Amino acid sequence: MLIGKRIPNVTFRTRVRDESIGGPNPFRWEDKTTADYFGGKRVVLFSLPGAFTPTCSTYQLPDFEKLAGEFKAEGIDEIYCISVNDAFVMNAWGKSQNLEKVKLIPDGSGEFTRKMGMLVAKDNLGFGMRSWRYAAIINDGIVEQWFEEEGYSDNCDSDPYGVSSPQNILENLKSTKIAA
Ligand code: BEZ
Repeated sequence: MLIGKRIPNVTFRTRVRDESIGGPNPFRWEDKTTADYFGGKRVVLFSLPGAFTPTCSTYQLPDFEKLAGEFKAEGIDEIYCISVNDAFVMNAWGKSQNLEKVKLIPDGSGEFTRKMGMLVAKDNLGFGMRSWRYAAIINDGIVEQWFEEEGYSDNCDSDPYGVSSPQNILENLKSTKIAA
């Protein structure tokens, strides 16, 4: 439970389109820091075991995309999806999902996920080290709400999905607003 803690300061290696490069693959590296993504914003971050995996691609990511307007109405400036996958994989996944609202963050080396304490082995699936499934509301780099799936463990033979769903997070945002 990381409520009240500052998220780790890391550099993410992204690939961005740059038409000035020309040719069949007009992309270049662009480093983005934690401050670039999270500074001065109230965001939802959700983290999942892998791009293109079934639950993530069929439910979690598309549902966040569909519900983006409702999150905005609850005072959320951005929705970020992070995974221990490199920028090439994350860009291809975003393209295949026709994403317009949710932004993908490639944590290829797993540094952010490790420093969040959420890195787990998924060698049982041939994945290596990946993220446990969790989500958080993060306000200017400080964790405001935390949604971690139960059973954090290495080589878990199930993939719990519920607390970190957009529906559950929205419900919490709405009820905490009413309570405030
Ligand atoms: C899924 O999202 O369905 C999934 C995630 C990790 C491993 C296998 C499946």
